[in-house]
Amino acid sequence: MTHVSVTVNGVQRGAEAEPRTLLVYFLREALGLTGTNVGCDTSSCGSCTVLLDGESVKSCTLLALQADGREITTIEGLASNGELHPIQDAFHRNHGLQCGYCTPGMIMAAASYLKENPTPTEEEVREALEGNLCRCTGYHNIVKSILDAAGHLAGAKV
Ligand code: FES
Ligand code: FES
Repeated sequence: MTHVSVTVNGVQRGAEAEPRTLLVYFLREALGLTGTNVGCDTSSCGSCTVLLDGESVKSCTLLALQADGREITTIEGLASNGELHPIQDAFHRNHGLQCGYCTPGMIMAAASYLKENPTPTEEEVREALEGNLCRCTGYHNIVKSILDAAGHLAGAKV
């Protein structure tokens, strides 16, 4: 076992991890951050997406050890002072989820994407989401939510 130390959602955290432990399991099982879901374990579904040093990554594609010393934001870190993040709020208002399983990954992917492209077209949002699968919504309301969030993000902390 090796000690892995990370800053998660602005808080310094650490725990022991085996060399083979994937980051998503480290977050969920060692740190108790179960908002990040595991859908496939094979980098296909995007439900495990988090921000690593501000960039979105599928946390099942990294070992926990690779995140040592780095900064992670998970879905638990988006809301602040009891207020939903504008992307979370937009998903809520636009019915951007059904079962919700894909939602944390969708929102984290969107948070990263909207920093790169704050005023995307619908087609660009659809392209940006190609690594995130949803088996419930047909994507329409997810795309609508992200376009809506884009209009509300000025000044928001991601
Ligand atoms: S669990 Fe990581 S991409 Fe599906
Ligand atoms: S809302 Fe169910 S998988 Fe996307």
